[in-house]
Amino acid sequence: MPLYKTIHPNSSTQILVWHITESFSDLVQDVILNENSRARLQSMKSQMQQRAFLSVRKVLQQAGYKDFDLYYDAFGKPHLQDGKYISITHSHEFSAVIISDQSAGIDMELQREKISRIANKFCNTEWEYLTPQNKGEYIQKLTVIWGVKEAVFKIKNQKGISFKNHIQVHPFELETKTALATLTTANFKQQFAIFFEPIDDFTLVYAFEK
Ligand SMILES: CC(C)(COP(=O)(O)OP(=O)(O)OC[C@H]1O[C@@H](n2cnc3c(N)ncnc32)[C@H](O)[C@@H]1OP(=O)(O)O)[C@@H](O)C(=O)NCCC(=O)NCCS
Repeated sequence: MPLYKTIHPNSSTQILVWHITESFSDLVQDVILNENSRARLQSMKSQMQQRAFLSVRKVLQQAGYKDFDLYYDAFGKPHLQDGKYISITHSHEFSAVIISDQSAGIDMELQREKISRIANKFCNTEWEYLTPQNKGEYIQKLTVIWGVKEAVFKIKNQKGISFKNHIQVHPFELETKTALATLTTANFKQQFAIFFEPIDDFTLVYAFEK
């Protein structure tokens, strides 16, 4: 299946979501990979991982980029040769990419009850507004919070950032599909504008530096 969804949050940002329904052989014949990517693809253990990796290259093609336009730094953070910002996520049968003139992070998570088991690992001040007794909303909010913390982490890309202790998601309502997050470390404090939306059983979250 081709592109599943395109979002234009502002004039200099595009988000492309791909539904990975193609086989490995269909995907691999459609993309030309650089040497690093070929090595990464070969080292991947599962075909699902390989298909996700290849689907991101298909997404890049849609945005007018080749695999050769993409490189990774020592932390694994992706960058584009033309200086635009890029962030990548893949989850089960979906992959998504954000490309922007602004520094941005993206994450896509499957909504599942299992997340409540690890909520204590990544929630802190968020307990002030979370309502575990309202299970449906609780799971959805936890999924957003997790996605926010992943997206913010992908922007800052710094060792030692703790989801629980350093990234705070301020109170938000699911209906507004927006939130505010603050990253506070010993050296700095920074805010992030958050946007999220459901896609099938998944939650897509993206963040911009404020
Ligand atoms: C790196 C990390 C953000 C990836 O997120 P994920 O949910 O596992 O996986 P996703 O599919 O959403 O994202 C993977 C993509 O993130 C990008 N990425 C990897 N490392 C990155 C980094 N340091 N900075 C920014 N982006 C990064 C890559 O593009 C990668 O995909 P690709 O290699 O195929 O291009 C995550 O594994 C991580 O290390 N998180 C911080 C650790 C932590 O605190 N965990 C929770 C504690 S409760």
